[in-house]
Amino acid sequence: MTVAHDAMIRSLAGGFAMHFGKADDATIVMAPGRVNLIGEYTDLNDGYVMPMTIDRGIYIAIRKRSDNRVRVASVRYDELIEYELDNFSRPKPGSWSSYVFGVVEELRLRGLLDGGFEAVVDGNLNLGAGLSSSAALEVATAVSLQQVFGFEMDPVDTVKLCQHVEHSYANVLCGIMDQFACRIGKKDHALFLDCRSLKYENVPVALGDHRIVIVSSEVKRSLASSAYNARRAECQEAVEHFARLDPGIQSLRDVSADMVEENGDELSVNARRRSRHVIAENQRVLDAVAALRSGKLAEFGRLMIESHRSLRDDFEVSCAELDLLVRLAKNTDGVLGSRMTGAGFGGCTVSLVHKDAVASLTETLNTDYSARFDLTPDVFVLERNLEAGPLSLA
Ligand code: GLA
Repeated sequence: MTVAHDAMIRSLAGGFAMHFGKADDATIVMAPGRVNLIGEYTDLNDGYVMPMTIDRGIYIAIRKRSDNRVRVASVRYDELIEYELDNFSRPKPGSWSSYVFGVVEELRLRGLLDGGFEAVVDGNLNLGAGLSSSAALEVATAVSLQQVFGFEMDPVDTVKLCQHVEHSYANVLCGIMDQFACRIGKKDHALFLDCRSLKYENVPVALGDHRIVIVSSEVKRSLASSAYNARRAECQEAVEHFARLDPGIQSLRDVSADMVEENGDELSVNARRRSRHVIAENQRVLDAVAALRSGKLAEFGRLMIESHRSLRDDFEVSCAELDLLVRLAKNTDGVLGSRMTGAGFGGCTVSLVHKDAVASLTETLNTDYSARFDLTPDVFVLERNLEAGPLSLA
């Protein structure tokens, strides 16, 4: 296990002891964040995605209580919130507690919690960096409660419950990718998911001498949720237009590039561009899965670069900082591909880099990016990814 992982477990044990006494009989659960390798803004259009979990995430130490009190402390926010299980009131949407208690409330409404509990939450994900800290928090909460209350829940149902919490308690109309990746993603694999059928496959990530490098732009995604919902509405506008021509069309998944060329004139410029991105991006995911399976990493990298171009020009969710990170990476020898990852407007890039080129890439980014934006990028190499579940303290 990594040093960061051990540090998290120590922090939880310390936090638990401080608030609730010795942690010996507490259960510890972790849910990782995710990086999306390719397939951006396709999930909310019934399309394809290929994310994978990372080696950082959210950690929870939890223990059942004999009464109905719910007591949860966040180490990161230095805050303890408590209430009686059947006396829930909604936290501020988007606050850490909205994700945790949204999950608690949804499980209570389904009759799965028969009493209170106490828990401490910590994490080593860069918050607001687009690595799904909120999905990881929802999933970690759901899995930890499942562990201590001992109920069965199908992983895909857990994913849906967590997505519902994001919609109803955090007011972000996200697709299903993040919660799916955090709950179901497996070690050493990427997750190829069809967001319409919810069929998925774990695709081995065998990169040989190449590495996945994640770079945080350190730009917080402040506008992200309103812009995200706006993009969703523009995609919907396009769907309604095409559905008038062909009632069989239910989402952009059903629209072809030819249809946009031939029948897209009446669409607003934005809806037309958004459609173009989603249709091409779906195909890129299929091509990228094939490339990864057959070890064609140069092809994979080329698709990442195309994806970024399309997100920048057609979907318009990139920003100057992400564009520079991608440009600097592309111009570095040994980098096969690079793109923004996640919802955009800041957050991270993901790149495919030869191991011998990681040091020069890091140096270039530290020098040139910092000179232009006065920000220090956080560069990390994904050595091994984790999966959601209970941890043994041994
Ligand atoms: C966010 C959402 C996901 C997905 C991505 C963009 O991460 O939570 O559902 O739409 O943006 O691909």
